[in-house]
Amino acid sequence: MYRHIVVLTGAGISAESGIRTFRDQDGLWEEHHIEDVATPEGYERDPELVERFYNLRWEQLKSTDVKANPAHEALAQLEAEFDGDFLLVTQNVDDLHERGGSQRLIHMHGELNKGRCPRSRQTFLLREPFGPDNVCTCCIPPQRLRPHIVWFGEMPFGMDRIHDALERCDLFIAIGTSGTVYPAAGFVDIANHHGAQTVEVNLAAPDRHSQFQWHLTGKAGDIVPRLVKAVLQGKSLCSLADVLQETD
Ligand code: OAD
Repeated sequence: MYRHIVVLTGAGISAESGIRTFRDQDGLWEEHHIEDVATPEGYERDPELVERFYNLRWEQLKSTDVKANPAHEALAQLEAEFDGDFLLVTQNVDDLHERGGSQRLIHMHGELNKGRCPRSRQTFLLREPFGPDNVCTCCIPPQRLRPHIVWFGEMPFGMDRIHDALERCDLFIAIGTSGTVYPAAGFVDIANHHGAQTVEVNLAAPDRHSQFQWHLTGKAGDIVPRLVKAVLQGKSLCSLADVLQETD
């Protein structure tokens, strides 16, 4: 029976909802250079290019085809029904966890549907696309809003709370992340170091350098609801992995 659970999600959990990942075949980083659209220097060089990139992704998020999937919904159920401490941390900038019913989560890489004043750092719900006329209401003169996205070289949000939870957790679950971007890629080491059980859910088989104690290979939408059900029934990862493997 677990008492403290931390879940980390990445782009793979939203793949079945029609949102492209970054590093799979056809991933976003195949078409765009990270240094152009995901760094402060890129934004300084060509704000319109960066705004176009995030405006397109914001528009896509509003499309009626994009919906939360059973993996998002299962994590919302875990938040609602788990008796102990639970922290959901996502690297995703979409709002599918919220649409799936999650209420308390940390968007460590920011949120696509918010803009931020570069001077006061106040955030604003995005009502129109980024551009020269989309400005803050907190400064005089008003400042052009920038995407509320953590770019490479910037500090992710919520790190103190995340570290605290990782040091106390007895179960750490990572779902749909390639584990290539730090600091999130190092969370498993912190959890292992503090004695937690660690499990990864991913479509791809684990590589031999993986730090996770357990791996569940398959689609998040298939595996996560079963994983959550087993955790809520008080099963340990050991028995739980058997259950999941048997039915795969
Ligand atoms: P990646 O695109 O790097 O990895 C997506 C992972 O999801 C891969 O390991 C896939 O095998 C897995 N995957 C794909 N479909 C899946 C499915 N249906 N079920 C389960 N797993 C699936 O995305 P992230 O690891 O989230 O940062 O990327 C981390 C960060 O890199 C992002 O937050 C973003 C990016 O640069 C910023 O923009 C700051």
